[in-house]
Formats: sequence, structure tokens, C-alpha cells
Amino acid sequence: MEETRIAVVGAGLIGLRHMEALGQARGARLAAVIDPAPAAKDRAQSLGLPWFASVADMPPDTVDGVILATPNQIHVEGGLACVAQGLPVLVEKPFATSVEEAMVLLQAAEAAGVPLLTGHHRRYNPLIAAAKSLVTEGRIGRPVSVNGMFWLAKPDDYFDVAWRRQPGAGPVLVNLIHDIDLMRHLVGEVAAVQAVESRAVRGNAVEDACVIILEFENGALGTMNVADCIPAPWSWELTSGENPAYPQTDQACYVIGGTEGALELPRVRLWRHEGKRSWWEPLSATTAPRPSGDPLVLQAEHFARVIQAQEPPLVSGREGTRTLQVIEAVKASARDRQRITIETL
Ligand SMILES: NC(=O)c1ccc[n+]([C@@H]2O[C@H](COP(=O)([O-])OP(=O)(O)OC[C@H]3O[C@@H](n4cnc5c(N)ncnc54)[C@H](O)[C@@H]3O)[C@@H](O)[C@H]2O)c1
Repeated sequence: MEETRIAVVGAGLIGLRHMEALGQARGARLAAVIDPAPAAKDRAQSLGLPWFASVADMPPDTVDGVILATPNQIHVEGGLACVAQGLPVLVEKPFATSVEEAMVLLQAAEAAGVPLLTGHHRRYNPLIAAAKSLVTEGRIGRPVSVNGMFWLAKPDDYFDVAWRRQPGAGPVLVNLIHDIDLMRHLVGEVAAVQAVESRAVRGNAVEDACVIILEFENGALGTMNVADCIPAPWSWELTSGENPAYPQTDQACYVIGGTEGALELPRVRLWRHEGKRSWWEPLSATTAPRPSGDPLVLQAEHFARVIQAQEPPLVSGREGTRTLQVIEAVKASARDRQRITIETL
């Protein structure tokens, strides 16, 4: 079978991982690197691949689709350049830095009939698929409350890259967006948020910490606790084993509670009473066998099938924008010190 040709735009931290993932994906291959940085040109040459400084410089029919892994602030600009060439594009998260600009890209792509995906790769993780099945099968009953943690310590040199210190970056937009996307996937749509942020540690324009209350449309509640300056094990990054670059711990980062039981992730450990549903009865925990699979590879394979019109996007541009809407509400709530309700997109 002919492999689907995919270009990576932005060969930085995550772009290089996409390039590796494309090397392992079935049905897809890396076919070009687009990034004006000299290091990216060298990398492309060392791999024997075509290199271009921009999407506009790439001749027609060089690739079948694009993974856009550029800084957040130029996702829409890059996405529009791909749509103009009729190229399906998987946009790294956040899909855009605001819902307003996301809508410009969505509308352009929908008018041109070009598929858009958002790079919420965790949804492709078999652990999340296992958790989603348990929730859908009713094993925790009706969702009541969730708690999510994102505590870790980014090294000082992470902030040497200017865009990571500027509005449009920060752990809420860069990291929490993944957690919120999973909460939407596992628990339901978010109807309202309240949030408080702090910049007390680094004094950058972007936050060091944020605490959030979530209200879901189905009546469930949630809390999310975010900080990227605390040495701690409780984050998806340091518990899931998804990215081998991070040391893995055996801790939990999410707990999702329902009327029949509670689920601990990423271990996919289900807590239920053995007999009657009562605090007097013993609780037992069952842990599903740990499924494995690299979500970036699975995402690349899915993207190839979307390009070949074999399946619809699992996480479309619109879906990524819906997650961005929640993040935007978090930022607005922290800024205005108000509870923010979220309208249907
Ligand atoms: N899915 C994930 O888990 C994940 C992880 C990290 C980053 N990201 C997202 O990926 C994006 C990139 O983040 P990063 O940390 O890899 O950034 P980075 O700064 O390490 O890399 C960005 C790359 O884009 C290149 N670039 C800049 N302008 C460009 C342009 N106009 N055209 C082409 N290339 C250009 C830069 O030269 C650089 O190589 C961000 O949106 C970030 O939020 C996602």
C-alpha cells in the first residue's frame, strides 16, 4: 500500500517527536520538513528529506498532509497556508491562542472541505481508551466529581525560548489543555469554570500556578490543580509513561468519581464496594492490564487514514476549539475573578 506523505512544520521539541513517530507509523511516512531554522535544514538534509522554509515555498503535490508543530501564536497562520494548498492539517494544541482566531481557520477549512485535526494525542493512548470504555459501560455509575493534578518542575532553561514566557503560552494553555481535553472526553462537556492564577514564583507574563473549579453539563463537578514549578510526581507527564523522555512514577494524576465507583488514572484502577454500596463495606480495587501503544504513532496512523478519507477525525479542529473554549474561559475567569459560563460553539 502507498504510504501517506506527511510534512512536519516546526521541527522543535514536539516536531522532532512527530518526525520519529512518522518513522514508526504504518501507512504514513515523513516526506518533508518545513522550518526556517538552520538546525531544521541540517536535520532534513541528514535524513535525505526535502526542506522548505515555509509551507508556501513547498511545491504542489510534495506531501498529502501536514503536522503543524510551530509556536502557538502562528498556528492559525500556518493552518491557513495549508488549507490554501488543500492540505489536511493536524494542528498541535492549542489549536489557536483564541477561539475567535480558531474560528477563522475552522471556517476556511470547512469552506474548502479540508480536514483539520487537533493534536490532543492523549486520546489515542490505549489507557484512555480503556478508561473511556469503563465510564461508557457505567462501571463508575453517573459521574459526580473529578480531581486532576498537573504538578511538575520545568527546568529554568525551558524558559530561555521567548514564546514560552509570553501571553499565548503558560502551563494552562500549553499543558492543562491536554488534561481538560481528557476530562471533556471522559466526563462530559464543561458548562462553567472558576479559576485563580499566580505568577509569584518566576514573575513571567505567564502563570506559574492555577487552581480551577469545573462544572460539567451533566451536573458533575471537578477541580484541576496546575503548577509547573513544583518538583512532584502528580501529572500525566510523569505518571503515564507516554513520553519516555520523562521519568515515570507509579502515582495517580486523575481520580474520577461516580455513583457506583471511582477510577484512578493512569493506572486504570477501579475502586468499588465489594457488596452493598456503603461506607461500612470493604472497597476493592481492580486494575486492568496496562495496554500499551505510543499515542503519537497511533495519532499519525489515524491522520493518514483521515487523509485517505477512510475515517473521520477523532479529535477534529472543532473539537480542539471546544477544548480551547474551556481554557479561554479559565484565563478569563482568572483575569476577571469571575465564574465564566461556556456557550455552545
Ligand atoms: N502534544 C504535545 O504533547 C505537545 C508537546 C510540546 C509542545 N506542543 C505544542 O507544539 C507546538 C510547538 O512547541 P515546541 O515546544 O515544540 O516548540 P519549539 O520552540 O521547541 O519548536 C518550534 C519550532 O517551530 C519553528 N518555527 C518557528 N516559526 C516557524 C514558521 N513560521 N514555520 C515553520 N517553523 C517555524 C522553530 O524554528 C522551532 O523549530 C506548540 O504549539 C506547543 O504547544 C505539544
